Amino acid sequence: MEIKEDSLKHIRHQGLGDLITYENTANGISGRSTNGYFQATVYTPNIIRIQISQNEFFDTLSYAVICTSQETEFEVSENTEYISLKSKFLQLEIIKKSSRFSFFNDKGQMLNEDCPGLGVSFMGDSKSVYKTMQKGERFIGLGEKTGNLDRKGTGYTNWNTDHFAYSAGADPLYCTIPFYIGLHNQLVYGIFLDNTYQSDFNFGASNDRFSSFTVRGGDLNYYFIHGSSVAEIIISYTHLTGRMQMPPLWGLGYQQCRYSYYPDHEVYKVAQTFREKRIPADAVVLDIHYMDNYKIFSWDSDQFPDPGKMIKDLKDQGFNVVVMCDPGIKIEKSYPAYEEGVAQDLFLKYPDGTYYSGQVWPGWCHFPDFTKPDTRNWWGNKLKDYVQLGVKGYWNDMNEIATWGQKLPELIEFDFEGEGGSTKRGRNVYGLMMCKSTFEGAKRHLDDERPFNLTRAAYSGVQRYAAVWTGDNVSTDEHMLLGVRIVNSLGLSGVAYAGYDIGGFAGEPSIALFARWISIGAFSPFFRGHSMVNSRDSEPWSFGEEVEDISRNYINLRYQLLPYLYSVFYEASISGIPVVRSLAIDYSFDDEIYHLSYQNQYLFGPNILVAPVESYKEMTRVYLPEGHWYNFHSEELHSGQSHVYVDAPLTHLPLFVKAGSVIPMQSVVQSTQEAPEPLLHLHVYGGGDSEFLYYEDDGSSYQYQDGLSYRRSIIFNHQEGTLILTEVEGSWPSKFAKSRFAFMVLLVLILSGYRGKNTSYIEEELVFLPAISNFDPLGKEVVEKKVTVATITIENSDQEITVEF
Ligand code: GLC
Repeated sequence: MEIKEDSLKHIRHQGLGDLITYENTANGISGRSTNGYFQATVYTPNIIRIQISQNEFFDTLSYAVICTSQETEFEVSENTEYISLKSKFLQLEIIKKSSRFSFFNDKGQMLNEDCPGLGVSFMGDSKSVYKTMQKGERFIGLGEKTGNLDRKGTGYTNWNTDHFAYSAGADPLYCTIPFYIGLHNQLVYGIFLDNTYQSDFNFGASNDRFSSFTVRGGDLNYYFIHGSSVAEIIISYTHLTGRMQMPPLWGLGYQQCRYSYYPDHEVYKVAQTFREKRIPADAVVLDIHYMDNYKIFSWDSDQFPDPGKMIKDLKDQGFNVVVMCDPGIKIEKSYPAYEEGVAQDLFLKYPDGTYYSGQVWPGWCHFPDFTKPDTRNWWGNKLKDYVQLGVKGYWNDMNEIATWGQKLPELIEFDFEGEGGSTKRGRNVYGLMMCKSTFEGAKRHLDDERPFNLTRAAYSGVQRYAAVWTGDNVSTDEHMLLGVRIVNSLGLSGVAYAGYDIGGFAGEPSIALFARWISIGAFSPFFRGHSMVNSRDSEPWSFGEEVEDISRNYINLRYQLLPYLYSVFYEASISGIPVVRSLAIDYSFDDEIYHLSYQNQYLFGPNILVAPVESYKEMTRVYLPEGHWYNFHSEELHSGQSHVYVDAPLTHLPLFVKAGSVIPMQSVVQSTQEAPEPLLHLHVYGGGDSEFLYYEDDGSSYQYQDGLSYRRSIIFNHQEGTLILTEVEGSWPSKFAKSRFAFMVLLVLILSGYRGKNTSYIEEELVFLPAISNFDPLGKEVVEKKVTVATITIENSDQEITVEF
């Protein structure tokens, strides 16, 4: 065939080609095929890293991965067809013909394989891997993405983007977390594609033949993770990319935000209203109007003449202040941040050395290059002034980078620790590196106190530095449920601390929508109300008395649950298992949980099942997975793997508690600065066994990392009739002098003396959500739901405590 010269200029697929040669390396093998090079490294017994490049130099710098490969046992063998690399749990076979990679577990079951005929594909600078779609394969994770829990049939792009009022199917959004979990035939695996260039994932969006992922530059560099459960995959992924450190306890409280509260007396008024109305809250958030002309590190001296005093006064009322931090530095002579940035050469540049300028809130700006160590250091030091004023919370925004028009030219130069890179490589990590600079800077100045740090843009590993919120959502029911799914997906993707703007940022929620949203938000790791400039007031009291009561009820409940929630945060900090748990973690192969009607349900910690419902529904159908479940609002017990119809008035969000669990709670406080009553309420839901790691520490310092903490397991054995609090580990004294065990369902047995081994049980009534006031004389009477329990109260001791019932 005659080839026209012109056609040679056009990019077409080229495979990796047949294997030519390979050699053993310290932790794996390295090889050459006709059209490229590869390395396979046994990273841990559960993880094999694959690197594929068109030249023999592989990318080395990663901002996401914090550990190097472990020394671990593996074997290399070869036959005529393939080379095999085998670790304790995972086996990689590289088929010599066309260099295809297949992964098997230790039982020889195939987890994942490159698609015959396609496999690795080079297209100019782009590189892809096509994987055979397995029968019944599902895909979960990929971080902050719209769409369904099971991502099968969908394609996504990672290119951090400021997307105001995004639609419920929009893509890409603000974050890039190129990690997903595949499930098929009772098998699970994870793939983390550590490449910061634009990446694209295709989960069978084109056909049933393959799933694929593509990078638009750099190497194909992915970690293949084996595990026997979804939880194990998350543990391994967060072993690679890190886990959050404990946030300050106040960061788990309610935060009130709007764009923007100003002048200072508005801020005082908001804080004071919370206290007057006895609605707990821990933070007021200052959006861009606190600054002088939106210039970061400055204060508007007319609106906020004495920020130090304001912050102190608020602190005295139990409020912390979170300030907005935008990266754009206004180009303005004698503005110190600008002058310093120029003098110290800290900004992003064009290849000719001139600074890149883009327009954002302050007007024309330069942008700190956070991939440069000097810039990170400078930024961190600039936070000192905030810290000295008493600011403990930082909100990293517009860090995609957002500029009006979004056109960050692709040839902008990023430092990349001196290695160099363009926008193509830098854009997706800009947010991550800003968070690192803010978090580490604040930490440095806060003198061992934990900062609260929040971000909009992110890349894998962000959990080490900041909580993530889902950006500019919209006041609709659809968005409310989408936010729940995104936060669950972030949890599957290593980000345990995440949330959404309650009430919706853009638009205005109806009364009902706000009421429902705040009750669901009480079961989100990060709990904040926020709304757009020039929109109606959106504080919990702004929607009438009934919604005020509903908000108070759910915020109170959130604060009562703090001992449980804080323990769950601790678990996330040591294992990476998220605070909110998609049902795909514990019930991975139950098809029903992926059903569109039930995919929004999740577990808040290990034991509380939340079934979010649209605001206009008075009743809903809930799917209860395996086990037994108590309706939280009554004593009703349901068998799992069943569907139940439940009432869902705005006052009662459907909540269920797993049989066999013990939920530690406390008295209501108005902020986490207030000490709860010294009585730990342990709510015992009979009918199963459980073990829960109970955790306390000072809630504010890093000394917990040196053992200043209080850890004990709560072990419940229904059959044996025992509840054991194991001996305390750590040197922090509990804030609770006594423990009160409230047995929910064993009541009849206990009080009738059938099993009671202790006569000091008392019958009590519990009300978790008091009836809201009956404001409307014609309205329906709201009946308080009471639960009758048998309680026993004992002195706490650090020794093992056994309660027999
Ligand atoms: C961005 C943020 C939003 C904030 C606004 C003003 O749109 O996403 O939360 O209120 O900027 O700073």
